[in-house]
Amino acid sequence: MQDLAGKVAFVTGAASGIGLAIARSMHQSGMKVMLADIDADGLAQAASELEGSATVICDVRDPASVQAAADATIETFGKVHAVVNNAGVGLGGRPGSIPLEDWRWIVDINLMGVVHGVEIFTPLIRSHGEGGHFINTASMAGHWAHPNMGPYCATKFAVVGYSECLHEALAPEGIGVSVLCPGFVRTNIANGGINRPSGTEIPRVIPQGGESGGVPADASDLVANGMPPEVLGDWVIECMQRDARYIFTHPDMGPLIDGRHAMIKAEFERSAANATLRANQTSQG
Ligand SMILES: NC(=O)c1ccc[n+]([C@@H]2O[C@H](COP(=O)([O-])OP(=O)(O)OC[C@H]3O[C@@H](n4cnc5c(N)ncnc54)[C@H](O)[C@@H]3O)[C@@H](O)[C@H]2O)c1
Repeated sequence: MQDLAGKVAFVTGAASGIGLAIARSMHQSGMKVMLADIDADGLAQAASELEGSATVICDVRDPASVQAAADATIETFGKVHAVVNNAGVGLGGRPGSIPLEDWRWIVDINLMGVVHGVEIFTPLIRSHGEGGHFINTASMAGHWAHPNMGPYCATKFAVVGYSECLHEALAPEGIGVSVLCPGFVRTNIANGGINRPSGTEIPRVIPQGGESGGVPADASDLVANGMPPEVLGDWVIECMQRDARYIFTHPDMGPLIDGRHAMIKAEFERSAANATLRANQTSQG
């Protein structure tokens, strides 16, 4: 999607952090923006800054809420072109001690929230025939596993894989798909855990170790010292305009991806050297 002036964007998690930064840049590019979030006060503040934007309370866990927000977007702006499935929360902890209700909570927001956005908005983008774009917010944690961030990494790896499928599936219809994969960004994400259903104390998450390397500090400290979110906004727009499959924002974290790919390649080559496996191949690929 090249020409943005007058096009309509729907952004979830738009009351804070990365979602707000993307909404600002879209607004500056001349787009009409529907700001969606569960935080009514944050939405009101964002809307007061972005003249001509509109707001809607939307809980991405609930498909009925996402459908109502989509209906409100069409009612307000007539159509929708860009959808930023960005709302998300963090959850880590030691395996064996993470309440299952918290697991379901993060899957419902970080993964099913994206699924709801795609399933509900795709027919609306298709219907006007002008093309469009999905930006799904994953994370570097969707490419890099660290031992104490299992629930967060599981949802973000899922969003990366899902977005790769969507990129292929929707391209023939002129609908682009990019997966946004930031490293640490200075937002409110470390506080999102207060809404966890178990209500247990927020675990201190130290994402260090792991074969692919690590970062020796508490995740919330890394977020507090992370990149300012406003740095991301214009870059995300630029990547959307050229239909980038991935949007990376933290060049210094590249070695983490290299490390993971090297481990995968090494194991793959061991399997390829196994005569029994080779003799039973089912394709030439
Ligand atoms: N901050 C980082 O370091 C970082 C890094 C990589 C990826 N991300 C991802 O960026 C996205 C945005 O997070 P952020 O860092 O800006 O955090 P943030 O907490 O500042 O913003 C998240 C927003 O999502 C909203 N939200 C939470 N649950 C919701 C729900 N059920 N329905 C609708 N809105 C909901 C919150 O109210 C908040 O406004 C998330 O998907 C997060 O996983 C963040």
